[in-house]
Amino acid sequence: MRKDVRLYAKFEGLNPTGSFKDRGMTVAVTKAVEAGARAIICASTGNTSASAAAYAARAGIACFVLIPEGKIALGKLSQATMHGSTVIQIRGNFDDGMRLVQEVSRRLPLNVVNSINPYRLQGQKTVAFEVIEALGEAPDYHALPVGNAGNITAHWIGYSESAGADTLALKRPAEMPAYRTHKIVDRRPIMLGYQASGAAPIVRGRPVENPETVATAIRIGNPVSWQQAIAAGRESGGWFAECSDEEILRVQKLLAQTEGIFCEPASAAGLAGVLKDLELGRIGEGSTIVCTLTGHGLKDPDTAIAQGAKPLTVDAELRAIEGVIRDYLK
Ligand code: F0G
Repeated sequence: MRKDVRLYAKFEGLNPTGSFKDRGMTVAVTKAVEAGARAIICASTGNTSASAAAYAARAGIACFVLIPEGKIALGKLSQATMHGSTVIQIRGNFDDGMRLVQEVSRRLPLNVVNSINPYRLQGQKTVAFEVIEALGEAPDYHALPVGNAGNITAHWIGYSESAGADTLALKRPAEMPAYRTHKIVDRRPIMLGYQASGAAPIVRGRPVENPETVATAIRIGNPVSWQQAIAAGRESGGWFAECSDEEILRVQKLLAQTEGIFCEPASAAGLAGVLKDLELGRIGEGSTIVCTLTGHGLKDPDTAIAQGAKPLTVDAELRAIEGVIRDYLK
């Protein structure tokens, strides 16, 4: 069904390590170095580790990453290892890793760069600034995938700051100067958070013990910024909903084959949710909607190849090539 809306994609796959994480990681690592840190640590479903590894390499400090064994996409693993971080695979999931990172950081001199680090959110809020700059105002809706729930929190902080409004989602870094808002726009968008059905703790209202989804980036059962994300949802009049793995993969492909944008599966969850809520009439006609596409599709080549058309193999002859093309054009 055709709907009369303006739908924009904010593609984060063009950041230095291919995901939105770089926006917050550059701030977190800079502040860690400023404080004299010699090592950082994070738990990750892949993108945080890729970004932490790269920024630690640039800063000349050590980086330790905890990842769930066998559950992170190939491109992300290659980034973490190539940038020289120490990759520790755990026989457990992201939530176990997150708990362990917090425990070990209390015993050893490590700076945690997961999104519980408030500087991460301060960097990631800049997405909202750029959207406002591009549109000249806040959109009616801003949709994004939700995993550990830091990014929806950061978006909301950015929009709130731009509208001169307060938000309970903000946990200001202790030594930061007074929170300054700038009334650049009149209003904030309605925030929409989408989770994968097999990893939808916020939608269900309780932690998911064994989260499972093809969108491994958001395979998280107990998000650390849960309460802030709820605040963003409530204050904006928004909601959280879920998408099945089939819906996520279908929309990932749709975007690649109609817009030429290749995002990773998790990123497609935001758009998949919006398309569903448009069908259901929960999002009104005439709305302006922005979807953050959180990471590049090249991060996860295995999932892409598994669902793409198989290459044809023919002899290296003109006739064979011509035959294929003639068949297609018929
Ligand atoms: N999309 C992608 C591509 C991600 O990598 C993540 C999170 C999210 C969405 C969800 O963002 O956690 O702020 O709600 N990835 C983290 C990681 C968990 O370790 O790379 P969130």
